Amino acid sequence: MRPNHSGIGASRHRAIAGLLACAAAALIVPASPLRADEAQPFRLCADPTNLPFSSDSPSKPGFYVEIGQALAQALGRPIAYDWYKSYFGKRTVRVTLLGKQCDAMIGLPRSEDFMGPAVIFSNAFAKEGYALVAAKGQAPGGIDGLKGKRVAVQFASTPQNLLASRDDIQKVTVLSPEEGMQALDQGRADVAFIWGPVAGWLNKTSYNDRYQIELTEGEGLLWDTAIGFAKTSTELRDRVDAVLPQLQSTIGELAVKYGLPTGEPVRFGAMPATITTGTGTGAGVAQVANVVATETKGDAVAPGTEAIGAGKEIFNGTCAHCHGPDAIQSERKIDLRLLRHRYGDEMRDKFWTTVHEGRPTKGMPAWKEVYTDDQFDSIYSFLLTVQSESND
Ligand code: HEC
Repeated sequence: MRPNHSGIGASRHRAIAGLLACAAAALIVPASPLRADEAQPFRLCADPTNLPFSSDSPSKPGFYVEIGQALAQALGRPIAYDWYKSYFGKRTVRVTLLGKQCDAMIGLPRSEDFMGPAVIFSNAFAKEGYALVAAKGQAPGGIDGLKGKRVAVQFASTPQNLLASRDDIQKVTVLSPEEGMQALDQGRADVAFIWGPVAGWLNKTSYNDRYQIELTEGEGLLWDTAIGFAKTSTELRDRVDAVLPQLQSTIGELAVKYGLPTGEPVRFGAMPATITTGTGTGAGVAQVANVVATETKGDAVAPGTEAIGAGKEIFNGTCAHCHGPDAIQSERKIDLRLLRHRYGDEMRDKFWTTVHEGRPTKGMPAWKEVYTDDQFDSIYSFLLTVQSESND
């Protein structure tokens, strides 16, 4: 799952991805002495319908469930399941794990931010993340390999944010990894930059392993995955940590079995400096802006019209990808024609803070490093011309 973005729980599929053996491998831990609670079942919370991670089908239990089985065996305890639809999400964790219906949840992001001190974690057993999917032999190998390509990105995802200001990369917005794979299959995209585990699973089960999948690494692209426990379960957590290393090779085999991407991730750092018009860092863009301003000077257009035109151009070049061409957008939440309707007198303030700072957790990037205030003014002038009371 993705601890950063649209919040925990937005999608059940956001679980674990590529396996980079994290806990030191192949350390054999001597079996602990038998204790009274050892015959007690090891109770696992899992979603019955979330392959490749978990399923209540005994013939195809899923990556997490099989890890749980191996873990229970290593602990010398039978396994029991608490099936709970929609595995991910803080609410689920509260009801199941913290409600003491189970002892452990496999596949939580190992982060203090996740649920604060109420949830404690094992060591990481894998890394999860976004991946680049392309036909075999055509792996882009990095962000520059995406130049000139049509890249399928999930709406409001880190990859979408990352590529938002690259006008040398054509984005094809999709709503799910499934749709991203379809876009590839139907030739609507050259590469899909989507949630890795689901891509891997679909590649294996629906696309005959036709695609090559590279994990990516960078802010919000890859993170550690662990087993979560209620904070009172430190003893169990420590015992799990003690046996995890000897399970690492099993975990690696399970990852292959479920098609999860493995291998060294491709690093996606900060945006390279060689970006084209209107998308670089402050200074470069200011220069470009000056050139544009100079070129349009002397045109026989009314003041204001010029700004509107310039704003519209920036808007359609950069913002339209999410907010719709000319700001026409059927999804209300991101329909910028409703700004006045929504904010009234505060419209300009809202616009200003939102474009400057973004709403990174909601999928709106920050643009203050990208555009000058004059450019924001012109975008605003354009948006003023399209305000409406409703979006239908
Ligand atoms: C990667 C997709 C994406 C791009 C590109 C993008 N936005 Fe957004 N923007 C969003 C999302 C998603 C929201 C809604 C955030 C929320 O739910 O609060 C948003 C919200 C906004 C809002 C606040 C809307 C409101 O009603 O509160 C403004 C203003 C805005 N964007 C302006 C822009 C401008 C101007 C650009 C181009 C410079 C731009 N956005 C580019 C995704 C994007």
